[in-house]
Amino acid sequence: MNAEELMKEATKAAENAYAPYSKFRVGAALQMADGTVITGVNVENRSFGLSNCAERTAIFTAVNQGKKDIKGIAIAGPDAWEPLPPCGACRQVISEFCPADTPVYYDNGNGGFITSSVGELYPANSLMDMAEKKS
Ligand code: THU
Repeated sequence: MNAEELMKEATKAAENAYAPYSKFRVGAALQMADGTVITGVNVENRSFGLSNCAERTAIFTAVNQGKKDIKGIAIAGPDAWEPLPPCGACRQVISEFCPADTPVYYDNGNGGFITSSVGELYPANSLMDMAEKKS
């Protein structure tokens, strides 16, 4: 699946976002090594700090299905008015599973998307050598 198609999957997923507080829906789509796509949405809570981003929902869903080999990540924000790169917490979680050259496509807030990579979004990746050793 190419970048455009993966972004479309992320956009479709965003329809399931639970975002009654921010009214800001986000969808993420992971291209898995086995050819499948796993999606996630942001899930908010009335205790605001408990909200979970779409990217982490998608990654936790993949791991829950026994899949960790992620080849690409797309992030769509149909309510975004400016570029929507992943937040710092999600960058850390993404870096647990994805090498630096993994492509990350994120909404540009204007009907298109920006192409980046895990390494560009999260340089100086602390403790990654240790994470790699633990399989
Ligand atoms: N959000 C995501 O799901 N992903 C991002 O990359 C940025 C922000 C969510 C968190 C919250 O539910 C809403 O968007 C507003 O910040």
